[in-house]
Amino acid sequence: MNRRNFIKSGAALTALAFFYPEKIIGGEKVMAAEKLKWWQKTIVYQIYPKSFQDTTGSGTGDLNGVTQHLDYLKKLGVGAIWLTPIYPSPQVDNGYDISDYTAINPDFGTMADFENLVAEGEKRGIKIVMDLVYNHSSDKHKWFLESKSSRTNSKADWYIWKDAKPDGTPPTNWRSFFGGSVWEWCEERQQFYMHSFAKGQPDLNWENSEVRQAIFDAANFWLDKGVGGFRIDAIPYIKKPAFVDGKPDAKDGMIAVHTMTVNTPGILDFLHEFKEKVFAGHDIFTVGEANGVAPEDLKYWIGDNGVFDMIFEFSHVNLQFKNGEVYCRPTEWKLTELKKAISDSQAATKNNGWYPMYFENHDKPRCVNYFFKNVDTVKAAKVIATILLTMRGTPFIFEGQEIGMTNVNWNSIENYNDISAHAQFDFAINEGFTAAEALEFVHFFSRDNSRTPMQWNDKTNAGFSTGKTWLPVNENYKTINAAAEDKNFDSVLNWYRKLAKIRADNKELTQGDYQLLLADSEEIFAFSRSLNGKTFITAVNFSDKKVALQKDFTDKKIILDSESNFDKNFLQPLEARIYK
Ligand code: GLC
Repeated sequence: MNRRNFIKSGAALTALAFFYPEKIIGGEKVMAAEKLKWWQKTIVYQIYPKSFQDTTGSGTGDLNGVTQHLDYLKKLGVGAIWLTPIYPSPQVDNGYDISDYTAINPDFGTMADFENLVAEGEKRGIKIVMDLVYNHSSDKHKWFLESKSSRTNSKADWYIWKDAKPDGTPPTNWRSFFGGSVWEWCEERQQFYMHSFAKGQPDLNWENSEVRQAIFDAANFWLDKGVGGFRIDAIPYIKKPAFVDGKPDAKDGMIAVHTMTVNTPGILDFLHEFKEKVFAGHDIFTVGEANGVAPEDLKYWIGDNGVFDMIFEFSHVNLQFKNGEVYCRPTEWKLTELKKAISDSQAATKNNGWYPMYFENHDKPRCVNYFFKNVDTVKAAKVIATILLTMRGTPFIFEGQEIGMTNVNWNSIENYNDISAHAQFDFAINEGFTAAEALEFVHFFSRDNSRTPMQWNDKTNAGFSTGKTWLPVNENYKTINAAAEDKNFDSVLNWYRKLAKIRADNKELTQGDYQLLLADSEEIFAFSRSLNGKTFITAVNFSDKKVALQKDFTDKKIILDSESNFDKNFLQPLEARIYK
C-alpha cells in the first residue's frame, strides 16, 4: 500500500484509532451497540432440505435429516437455520411453488417432525427460520384452482387476471424470470394470468385485502409454532405498476419483468401492514430478499422505521453479469467493484438497520467458482470465509459452503434440473450463442451448482442418501466432505469453526465499526473492525500474485493466518489473515 492509498482508503484513520481510540468511538454509540439482538450476534445457516440429509432412502432430504445434524451445526457456531420452503409443492421450482402454506411436504416428513426439529433446535440454542413465498403460489394451490374456475367465484380477484390486447396477444411484453411471457392463457376465464416466475407460479393480487389477510394468517401460523424468524421471498415484486409495454431489452421483443415491477411505489404500505399484523412484538428476525432495492432506499426497508430487520440485496453478487442479460453470459469484474458494493451496503446500514452478509445461497453458484477462476478451491473458500465471518452484520452460510463445495459441470443441458438453467440456455441460444457457449454459461451460473447433495463423507452418495439421489452428487465428494474435514486441522471446515469462535469471543467483530482499507487495491480486500479502542483487521489476497504489505500492516499482531509458514511482510496468493 502506498502512502496516498493508505490515507485515501481510510486506513490512516483506523491506524489513529489504535492510539486515540476514545476520540474515535463515542460512548453513546457503544451503549447502543451493546443492545444487539440475538440474531445480530449469531450465525445463520441456510439449509436446502431437499439436498441436506435423507433419512428414509427416498433420495430426497428430509426434516429428520436436519435434526440429525443439529450438533454439527452447533459446533459451527450456528444460532439459526433458514430452511428453504418445506411446504407441499409440485416442485416446478423446487418448493418455491407452494400449494399449501400451512402444511409440511410429505416428502420432507410430518408436522410432528417439524415440531421436533424446533424443540431439538431450542435445546441447542438454534432457532428455525421459515421461507415465506407470497409473491406467488403454486397453480395447484386451492386458491388458484378456485380463482381460475370462473370470473365470478369468491376468489376471482385473488390473482392477477387481464384480458388480451384487442389483437389477442398478451396484455404486456414482460418476460418472466424463467423465460417467455409472464402471461399464460386460461381457457375457463378466457383471460391471461400473470406469473413473474414459472407458469406454475401465478402472482397473488396483494391489492385485495382478503389475500393479504390470508397471507398474514399463514405467517402467524408458523409464529405460533415457535419459529425464530422469516426469510421473505421475492418481495420487491408484490406491487404491480400500470400494465403497459416496456422497451424490449433482447431479441425476443420483451423486457425483463424485474425492470417493470421492482419496488413499485406503494409497496411499502403493504409491507408496513405485514409488519404490524405479523412481525411486530415478536423476538424474531425478518430478512427480505430484495434484489433491486438500492442502498439509498434501504432506510425505508430496514431499521426502526423500515419493514424488515435486514434485506438481502444483490449488488455484490450481481457483478458477474450485465443487467438485463438474464444471467446470460459472465462478464469481467474487478475486486474494487466488489469492495465498493459491500462497503456501500455497510455505509447504508451503519446507523440504521442491519446487514445480512452472504456469498452463497440456493440461487447462486458456489463462491469458490463464482468469485475466482481456476484456483485452489480450499484456499479460495478460506478467503471468502474470512471476509464473511469478520464482516459487520449477520453472516449467512449456505450448506456445503463450510466444507468448500464446488460447482458441477454436467455435459448436457438435459442433465440440469433447475428451471432457470433451461431458461438461461434457451435465452442464450435465442441471442445467437452456440449450444456449447450456452452450456458454458449454464456451467457458470446454474443454480444446480449449489443444490447438489451435501457431502457428509466418502461413502455411497457422500452419506447423503442410500437411495437414488434426486440430483447427482458432485463427484469430488471423496476429498471434499465433512467427515474428512472434521479430522483435518487445516480443512475449510475447521477454518470456519476457528473463525466462528473468534467471532463469538470478540465483540469487536459483532459490534465494531467497519472501515475499508486499501480501497484501490485490485489484489487485497482489507478492512478493520473497531470498538472501544480495540481493532481487528482482516486482510485477504484475492489474486494469484504475492503482494507486499506496508508497515501499517506489518507492525500489527497476527492472530490467524491460513498459511502455516506465513511471512508478515507479504500475502501469498489467496492467503487470509486476521490481525488484532
Ligand atoms: C427467489 C428464490 C428462488 C425462486 C424465486 C421464485 O428468488 O430464492 O429460488 O426461484 O424466488 O420463488
